[in-house]
Amino acid sequence: VETLEIKGERERSRILVGESLDNLLNYIPKEQVFIITDETVHRLYGHRFPSVPVLTIGEGEGIKNLDTVNSLYEQLLDSGVDRTAYLVAIGGGIVCDIAGFVASTYLRGIRFGFVSTTLLSQVDASVGGKNGVNFGGYKNIIGCFNQPDFVICDPDMLKTLEPKEIRCGLAEIVKHAAIKDSSYFNYIESHAEQALALERSVIEQLVYRSVSIKADVVNQDEREKGERRKLNFGHTFGHAVEKVTGVPHGEAVSIGMTVAARLSTAEDLLASDEQQRIERLLQALSLPTSFTANKEQLKDALAKDKKREGSSIHFILLDTIGHALVKEIDLTLLEAVLDDMC
Ligand SMILES: NC(=O)c1ccc[n+]([C@@H]2O[C@H](COP(=O)([O-])OP(=O)(O)OC[C@H]3O[C@@H](n4cnc5c(N)ncnc54)[C@H](O)[C@@H]3O)[C@@H](O)[C@H]2O)c1
Repeated sequence: VETLEIKGERERSRILVGESLDNLLNYIPKEQVFIITDETVHRLYGHRFPSVPVLTIGEGEGIKNLDTVNSLYEQLLDSGVDRTAYLVAIGGGIVCDIAGFVASTYLRGIRFGFVSTTLLSQVDASVGGKNGVNFGGYKNIIGCFNQPDFVICDPDMLKTLEPKEIRCGLAEIVKHAAIKDSSYFNYIESHAEQALALERSVIEQLVYRSVSIKADVVNQDEREKGERRKLNFGHTFGHAVEKVTGVPHGEAVSIGMTVAARLSTAEDLLASDEQQRIERLLQALSLPTSFTANKEQLKDALAKDKKREGSSIHFILLDTIGHALVKEIDLTLLEAVLDDMC
C-alpha cells in the first residue's frame, strides 16, 4: 500500500493506494459507524462490508441533491447517534460527494472516511476535500471543503466497472499528466492498452501518480484561489458539451481537452505535434476528440458558465505537455476552433 497525504487547512487526509476493502476495519472506530453506499456497490460488495448499519442511496446525478441529504440526516437522527458517530462512504464520486457533505454538516461535522470504488473517484473525486450536491440546475453548487480521514483506493474493485466508467477515469488521468507531468504523459502513451485492460500494476501506477499530482496541487491551494484552477483543464468547455449533448462527464472532458489543446496551438503556445499527441492519446484510450452539437446552444451554455467575463472566457491552456496556464480567450478564436471540430 502506498500512502499519500493531503494537508488541509483543518485536517489531514491519508490516501491509501492499493489498500483493500477487506482492511476497512483497521481505519474506523469500533462503535457508531455507518456506511453510506449505492445500490450497485451494495449488491456487488455488501457481503464484504463490516457489520455496521448501511444507508443506501439511489444512483445518477439526479439523486445528488438536498432531498437525498435530508433523508440521510433523518436516518442518522432516528438512529440517535451523537458526535462520536463516524460515516464511511463506499462508492463512486456521487456517494463520496454526498456522504462527505452529510458528515461535514450533521451535528456541525462528524468524522468520515471513503472507500473509493470508481477510477474517477480514486484519481479525482475523493481526493481534495470538495463535498457537495447539485442545486437549482447547477452542479456542485452547495457544498464545503473538508477532508476525509482516509481514502481507500482498492484496485480490485475497479474490475466490476462498466468500460465507460473506466474511460471517464482515464480522461482525468490524461488531464493530470497534460497539465503537470510530461514523463507521466509518456507513461500513459506507452501503457494505454494495459490501462484499458485494467492491468493491476499499470492501474496502481496511474492512481498513485494522479493522486500525487492532485495532492500536490491541493496542498498548495486547497480553496482553488490559483493553482487548483489548472485542474479545470478540459472542463470549461467540457461542462458546456456535457450540458448540451448529455455525453458522460469523462467524454465531455476529453472533448474539452481537445478544444483547449487546439486553442493553445491557435494561440501559438503549444506546438502542433504536441497537440496531435494529446488527441492521439485520447483516441487510443477510446475517448472522443470530436462531436456533434448545435454551436449556438454550446455558446449559450458557455455564456452561463460562471467563469465567463465579458466577451472572453478564462481557459486553462498548455504551453507544453506537462505545463498549464490560465488565459483569457476571445470568443471569435473559440468559434474558429469549433468550426474545425464540431
Ligand atoms: N469532489 C470532487 O472533487 C469531484 C471531482 C470530480 C468529480 N466529482 C463528482 O463525482 C461524480 C461522478 O463520480 P463517478 O464517476 O464515480 O460516478 P458514480 O458515483 O455515479 O459511479 C458511477 C456508476 O458506477 C457504479 N459503481 C461504483 N463503483 C462500482 C464498482 N466498483 N463496480 C461496478 N459499479 C460501480 C455506481 O453505482 C454508478 O452507477 C459527479 O457527481 C462529479 O460531480 C467530484
